[in-house]
Amino acid sequence: MSPRLFSWLLLPCCLDMFRHELPGAQAGLVLSAAKTLVWGPGLEANIVLPARFFYIQAVDSSGKNLTKSPGENTFEVKIVSPVEQFTRIWIQVLDRKDGSFLVRYRMYATYTDLHIHILLKNKHIAKSPFILKGPVYHEGCDCPQPSGSVWEAHMHCPESFPQIDRDLSLFTSVNPDRNAQEIPQRFGQRQSLCHYTIKDDKVYVKTFGEHVGFRIFMDAILLSLIRKVRLPDMEFFVNLGDWPLEKRKPTDKIHPIFSWCGSNNTRDIVMPTYDLTESVLETMGRVSLDMMSVQANSGPPWSEKNATAFWRGRDSRQERLELVKLSRAHPDMIDAAFTNFFFFKHDEGLYGPLVKHVSFFDFFKYKYQINIDGTVAAYRLPYLLAGDSVVLKQDSGYYEHFYNELQPWEHYIPIRADLGDLLEKIQWARDHDEEAKKIALMGQQFARNHLMGDSIFCYYYKLFKEYAKLQVTEPMVRKGMELVEQPTDDLFPCSCQRKRAKDEL
Ligand SMILES: *[C@@H]1O[C@H](CO)[C@@H](O)[C@H](O)[C@H]1NC(C)=O
Ligand SMILES: *[C@@H]1O[C@H](CO)[C@@H](O)[C@H](O)[C@H]1NC(C)=O
Ligand SMILES: *[C@@H]1O[C@H](CO)[C@@H](O)[C@H](O)[C@H]1NC(C)=O
Repeated sequence: MSPRLFSWLLLPCCLDMFRHELPGAQAGLVLSAAKTLVWGPGLEANIVLPARFFYIQAVDSSGKNLTKSPGENTFEVKIVSPVEQFTRIWIQVLDRKDGSFLVRYRMYATYTDLHIHILLKNKHIAKSPFILKGPVYHEGCDCPQPSGSVWEAHMHCPESFPQIDRDLSLFTSVNPDRNAQEIPQRFGQRQSLCHYTIKDDKVYVKTFGEHVGFRIFMDAILLSLIRKVRLPDMEFFVNLGDWPLEKRKPTDKIHPIFSWCGSNNTRDIVMPTYDLTESVLETMGRVSLDMMSVQANSGPPWSEKNATAFWRGRDSRQERLELVKLSRAHPDMIDAAFTNFFFFKHDEGLYGPLVKHVSFFDFFKYKYQINIDGTVAAYRLPYLLAGDSVVLKQDSGYYEHFYNELQPWEHYIPIRADLGDLLEKIQWARDHDEEAKKIALMGQQFARNHLMGDSIFCYYYKLFKEYAKLQVTEPMVRKGMELVEQPTDDLFPCSCQRKRAKDEL
């Protein structure tokens, strides 16, 4: 497995994410229990997610939204199932410090009904208790909704994703028989690939190449998805490497390859990165950096953030070396340093000594975050956007599934691929503080609206559904494929009340 995985997912063992701070109560402010706003997918029984979540917006007695934290323990959340003695549910109330809270909970069993109590000084707020009519399935429960369209409606999935339309528009049809022959021939020797078949709610796989450890991410999302919704039968190839593979021109015969990163010069079909996918699946589990935890750990308010541009990472690309050199020449503008040397010769004279790892959450002590390609796109961008700093994003030929929906100057400040205008752009941001702050908030809004777990599940589902429609031969379990088994959950079995309808899609 590449070191990248460990630096981004597993490393921050020591992140201090439940730091207790003094309540930043606004003087003389009276909160209104009745006017408090509550909304989000975690209030709906049918939205099954690894970690369910909803939001609370604090409102004062005159009906105005608070814009600062009323104190992190302002609201108390309890979740009970009236027919059970114990509910095995882990709840966290995350203070976003802007007057709103993100409440997330992970269920370890399926319940008949759930009552969500949200209290402000022992008083129910808004329409609390919220009653979720069960069965309320937990993540581990293998209980797919037989109808894809019903599931999409429950999830409030968007009608379409422009990137999926763009990617699939290059294929008028997909021929599973031919791909099963041709793709391993073209790529199977030198690349690490997985050939997947989904058939009758089961996942089968055959791997090609030596480095197939990253398969676990793809297995995990497929298993998670088919526990939730019936997928069409289909066959597809996933590229486990960093670089996208299909370099042929669209006018030549191109093959459909699913990749975690796309590029201007390739025709791969992009999926959410393994990093983002894993963080969705393992929220409140194995990972500590996820799209929710980051929202509660985005550092001091804007006015108290340091106006030096910040970057940490490893030496996976020439421009990163340039960035660190630039930082050494202009320490008043940029604080950029390596935490790891892996690819280039370690020249302390040029690039300085390695510095200690900084918790990702501490990045947000700084107003300006530099996002610069590594091997491919830097998979930290979703987390950077979700904080409340402004992102300076290098122009790049590499992209993730959502980059094409981001607008320069709206969601981020663009910088040239060669970083030639980086100093100038930092100066611009310093001179236009209000505008920079607005871009920071628009970027954050984008992340909150498009990069949370529900959106990621919708994206995968939609992608598979649209792709499956293009198939012109019957998807098959091929020779050499093995069944990818659902993890066994003996402790908390679920009794699935849904019918397994085979013909409805
Ligand atoms: C208060 O916050 C909610 C939730 O973010 C938002 O929908 C609403 O428009 C806000 N109300 C005002 C008056 O700004
Ligand atoms: C801002 O950050 C820079 C670089 O990390 C540091 O040298 C400087 O002292 C900080 N400024 C303040 C006011 O803390
Ligand atoms: C890649 O394509 C995008 C969209 O067409 C463009 O804005 C960007 O400049 C290109 N970047 C590079 C480095 O080729």
